[in-house]
Amino acid sequence: MTAALPYANGPVHIGHLAGCYLPADIYARYLRANKGEVLFVCGSDEHGVPITIKAKKEGITPQQVVDKYHEMMKKAFHEFGISFDIYSRTSNKIHYETASEFFKTLYDKGVFMEETTKQYYDETAQQFLADRYIVGTCPVCDNDKAYGDQCEKCGSSLNATDLKNPHSTLSGSIPILRETKNWFLPLDKLSSKIMEYIESHKDWKANVYGQCKSWLVSGDGLQPRAMTRDLDWGVPVPLPNAQGKVLYVWFDAPIGYISATKEYAQSIQKPESWKDWWQSNDSRLIHFIGKDNIVFHCLIFPAMLMEHGNYILPDQVPANEFLNLEGDKISTSRNWAVWLHEYLTEFKDMQDILRYTLCSNLPENKDNDFTWKDFQAKNNNELVAILGNFINRTLVLTHKYFEGKVPEQSSLHDIDQACLNEIEKAPARISESIEKFKFREALAEMMNLARAGNKYLADTEPWKLYGKDNDRVKTILHISLQLTANLAILCEPFLPFSAKKIRQMLNMESCHWDKLNHCMLTTGHQLGDTSLLYSKIEDSVIEAQIIKLQDSKKQNDMAEAAGKPVLPQKAETSFEEFSKMDIRTGTIIEAERVPKTDKLLKLKVKTGIDERTVVSGIAEYYEPEKIIGQKVCMLVNLAPRKIKGIESKGMILMAENERGELSFVNVVKDFSDGAVVK
Ligand code: MF3
Ligand code: ZN
Repeated sequence: MTAALPYANGPVHIGHLAGCYLPADIYARYLRANKGEVLFVCGSDEHGVPITIKAKKEGITPQQVVDKYHEMMKKAFHEFGISFDIYSRTSNKIHYETASEFFKTLYDKGVFMEETTKQYYDETAQQFLADRYIVGTCPVCDNDKAYGDQCEKCGSSLNATDLKNPHSTLSGSIPILRETKNWFLPLDKLSSKIMEYIESHKDWKANVYGQCKSWLVSGDGLQPRAMTRDLDWGVPVPLPNAQGKVLYVWFDAPIGYISATKEYAQSIQKPESWKDWWQSNDSRLIHFIGKDNIVFHCLIFPAMLMEHGNYILPDQVPANEFLNLEGDKISTSRNWAVWLHEYLTEFKDMQDILRYTLCSNLPENKDNDFTWKDFQAKNNNELVAILGNFINRTLVLTHKYFEGKVPEQSSLHDIDQACLNEIEKAPARISESIEKFKFREALAEMMNLARAGNKYLADTEPWKLYGKDNDRVKTILHISLQLTANLAILCEPFLPFSAKKIRQMLNMESCHWDKLNHCMLTTGHQLGDTSLLYSKIEDSVIEAQIIKLQDSKKQNDMAEAAGKPVLPQKAETSFEEFSKMDIRTGTIIEAERVPKTDKLLKLKVKTGIDERTVVSGIAEYYEPEKIIGQKVCMLVNLAPRKIKGIESKGMILMAENERGELSFVNVVKDFSDGAVVK
């Protein structure tokens, strides 16, 4: 099992965790408790342009960047309970050797196409420019800060040579085109083999299989891709006459999984055992990744492995979509993130609460959102009120009535039998979901068992029977304790810290899921001491986190505004001219998307004069469901226009900031519709 090697250019945030590290960890822990052997590898991806850019920004060397972040990420993952068998790094010697050897094998087999192309070269800095080092004007939207590979304003993906007025971000000079030789993987020629491979994996998650198919069949299909780059940071190309060239980061990084396995094999004194994982047909390779990595893990890396010939191919590639934060895209540069290392110090010993919240919100099939309010609710209403409450009541009562010894079970009532049935069925339900990579569902099944326990206690009320029918009380607590023991094992993949605590309170060892049944704790078994698993999170704690996020948003807006010139004032106009505009207050009463457009909403607005239809280009910033009842200002005497076949009568006033974000313009007092704005 692998989890994507994160770039060592910044700390880990919740988006990384939800994208792949948490689901991978749950799966690894599950496999260890259930199946044969599993090896879970990861490490830092220390090459690539993002690292050199970070180094430039911070005024340090790329090596210093990766040293800093490698240690930081490794520590944070470990403290969060991500149970890698090894967390390696791609600047290791063993990785350089493995990656070079892999390249050399493909080269010797004649897999690569050698090709001379023209690339931008910075004569002042005396180096070829990676796409990210070139900015210029976007040919699509005229944004003058588009990068050589993409325009972040309009989202178009570009070639560096498409840019108008290109210049180098290294020296500011105008780059020239210069010929350079590189080695290409002919994905076009390999595409039928790759297609066959993808076709044999209809079992993959729909989002993964779908994305692969669309890469294969849309446009011109797969194109040759350079596996070497003119850069000075990376694994040197192991060929004569290749000075100044390194392996493409997406060539070397996935080989990092192999190098990490080798490093692990050496660490357990079985240096050859890496082959059992990578070159043996009874091994199974599973890559956990985020959706932006699909093409590399499903098409390019398999193609490399096929052409090499000695390796097994990925069997499963469970990729997640993205996690947003409080409704906005997580962004490192805008500091819109919950950083794992900060969480770990601010929420001491509360790893499982974040694990729980993230797991129940995993973006398994579509993008999803993390909010601090939801985090609080998940803790207070689920972990505290259901799981913690059930276990605490069971243990406290056992200590109170039976000196902490597991009481004896006597004759069973229907309600007891029903509870035992739940216990019996739970492991299979959870397994089934985990094996389908449906971790949210699996977590919900685990919680359903805790819920069943809670209900069992509420229905049987042993505290009312004590002193009247002690045999009943013994039976009820006996069953509740078995349920607790099962939970201790079943919750471990999701909540490993809680699992350990519960086992300590029960004074029990961990066990294989095969052995799970309702008599794990024998009658008379002495329990350990009891403590609370979870406690309520107060509003003030959550508010502090929300304020922290708002502060970073403010700082960003200020920084951005400072860097952006304010638009110059428009040409003078007259009062007369202005008075022709009839602007009124109004209320949106209906809103829907205009089909086949990204930006347009069809609105119905009460203007005080009438109710009328307006088409408005605000769909990127406002969800139709959320703006019903929104007060607006509207230019009501604008000549009607037909937009996408809809007659639009008027225009809603919007403010637009430097980033192109839109906001409604509104009057401060609660005026009724039709007030005149003048
Ligand atoms: N560093 C890449 C990213 O963060 C992932 C690399 S995965 C590997 O998107 F396969 F290349 F290792
Ligand atoms: Zn653009």
